[in-house]
Amino acid sequence: MQNMDGQFAIRVRDLVVGFGRNVVIDHLALDVRRGEILGLVGASGGGKSVLMRTIIGLIPRRHGEIEIMGVAAGAGRISGGAKQWGILFQQGALFSSLTVRQNVQFPLRENLTLSEVLMDEIAIAKLEMVGLKPEDGDKFPSELSGGMTKRVALARALALDPAIVFLDEPTSGLDPIAAGDFDVLIKTLQETLGLTVFMVTHDLASLNTVCDRVAALADGKIVAIGPMQDLLQSEHPWVRAYFHGKRSQMLQHQAS
Ligand SMILES: Nc1ncnc2c1ncn2[C@@H]1O[C@H](COP(=O)(O)OP(=O)(O)OP(=O)(O)O)[C@@H](O)[C@H]1O
Ligand SMILES: [Mg+2]
Repeated sequence: MQNMDGQFAIRVRDLVVGFGRNVVIDHLALDVRRGEILGLVGASGGGKSVLMRTIIGLIPRRHGEIEIMGVAAGAGRISGGAKQWGILFQQGALFSSLTVRQNVQFPLRENLTLSEVLMDEIAIAKLEMVGLKPEDGDKFPSELSGGMTKRVALARALALDPAIVFLDEPTSGLDPIAAGDFDVLIKTLQETLGLTVFMVTHDLASLNTVCDRVAALADGKIVAIGPMQDLLQSEHPWVRAYFHGKRSQMLQHQAS
């Protein structure tokens, strides 16, 4: 793979991932540009979470190449250095027995040797970055609202100052106002930190307003990728059904 000018944060070629007879990712190719927010859409069970987990090395691949920030990721091990990426998982975002502060500090403890004072300062800075107060650091996950939980998970994903963040449905379960606030936060972080964001979302507002490009996953492949306007013009049957089906038409109509 040629990535001489470092234009791409993530490059995937000919990727195949499966479980037993279930081939989930089938010769998939994808480029994520540095500094962009790329939205990923696809049917439920279509392999979006599997794709993300494979890119970071949590799920082994059967075939193909993955490159993160210009470095080839070896099959069967966690990709890239500890600082290359952070992830907000779709489920079970936080450790319930740890406070918010300890959750945010978790990647620091795993990867670095820092003094407690410095760790506390970093935790406060990350919480502030995602719009939370230092006092929130003392709370336990069970004491947080859904929106706060997502923010803490994002703070943890940012703990090691990664170049890339993977967000798996970060606004699902949030009310439209909280989801909109979260979108603004992601956009701000992209702009101020130069982050590359790879985000699974079904939120049409997020796709329209924060994503620079949108990729559609169907039949184990990226079948369309480009600005939202291009996806709306796509001839691919699944992409057409997704964006022009009754439900999304209704939402788009209401939004306009
Ligand atoms: N660890 C695993 N072992 C076996 N099969 C798995 C595993 N993880 C995922 N799968 C299967 O891979 C397929 C894709 O799952 P995945 O979670 O990636 O879907 P998704 O696109 O993220 O769906 P959703 O939108 O519902 O989150 C499903 O058929 C699922 O059952
Ligand atoms: Mg998923």
